[in-house]
Amino acid sequence: MRILSGITSSGECHIGNYFGAMRQHVSFQDKGEAIYFVADYHSMTSLRDADERRRLVREVVLDYLAIGLDPERAVLYRQSDVPEVCELTWLLTSIAPMGLLERSHAYKDKVAQGLPTDHGLFAYPVLMAADILIYNSDIVPVGQDQKQHLEMARDMAQRFNHVYEREVFKLPEPHILEGVAVVPGVDGRKMSKSYDNTLRMFWPQKRLKKAVMSIVTDSTPVEAPKDTKANVFALWSLFANAEEKKQMFERAEAGGLGYGDVKKDLLARILETFGPMREKREELAKHPDDLEDILASGAARARTLGAPVVAAARDAAGLGPA
Ligand code: ADP
Ligand code: TRP
Repeated sequence: MRILSGITSSGECHIGNYFGAMRQHVSFQDKGEAIYFVADYHSMTSLRDADERRRLVREVVLDYLAIGLDPERAVLYRQSDVPEVCELTWLLTSIAPMGLLERSHAYKDKVAQGLPTDHGLFAYPVLMAADILIYNSDIVPVGQDQKQHLEMARDMAQRFNHVYEREVFKLPEPHILEGVAVVPGVDGRKMSKSYDNTLRMFWPQKRLKKAVMSIVTDSTPVEAPKDTKANVFALWSLFANAEEKKQMFERAEAGGLGYGDVKKDLLARILETFGPMREKREELAKHPDDLEDILASGAARARTLGAPVVAAARDAAGLGPA
């Protein structure tokens, strides 16, 4: 079984990425041939600073390694080190209906927010389809918010196979990561690299404390019962077991529990959970050349795995000599 997923390096990863995707990526490395990449081509639709792009790839790679991704077991590479995906993107672009791309939630959201749009943003799902289809991936573990992109990848694969009358691409199965709802940010919206509302697992303690304390809460007085659906409880619950949650919610409903206490406990739990990973990360960060070696061998492996599919797609489409 081949497992493929990626994370866009448009910002530093946060606990939403961790619980929603990265943690599961690590556990998948024992379940089949896992391939993960840092999507720096995808970051180009929102990030225009070249130095920052390089830096962020490194940060995401360090995060993955720190949380337990093992480059001996899983392939880990930088997307732009496999430029063949761009060629495949063109082949898919030429059969991707405008209507399909116009229905993309990600694109429509940006338009609705009045943000500048460009062709890269519009074509984002095609590049993502190429990432997936190039390896004949069986399953693609992603969070709920990426489900539509996967359906689009399946559509494009089916269409290409139909147009060129050849089974070039395998239709990937989405694997929507259940169990974790969308993690809210400190402001109550979805936690996202694109909003200034994240809690980053590896921030220095002081910065993390400031962010945790800034979690928006209502103005219910300490004595009053608290709404256990509040954002701060959703975040706290990520770090608690069933029994702890039961006790906390009983206290909240009884009144007398201050949001500040929940925040303090949340901070302690974040620091404890990520403490050992933080140490490992600091150690890894001292050896940037090793990181590049890992990425180089990951990319070499990825290119080998992708080559037959690119060749089959070119051949089916009549590109190059017969
Ligand atoms: P971001 O929105 O921060 O830019 P990405 O779009 O790069 O995150 O998502 C990377 C992975 O993390 C995806 O599989 C996505 O589903 C998951 N993810 C992102 N934000 C959250 C969140 N707030 N809660 C749960 N999962 C998330
Ligand atoms: N768009 C995905 C995200 O923002 C990242 C991504 C790019 C991806 N290509 C992919 C995920 C292919 C899975 C498979 O999270």
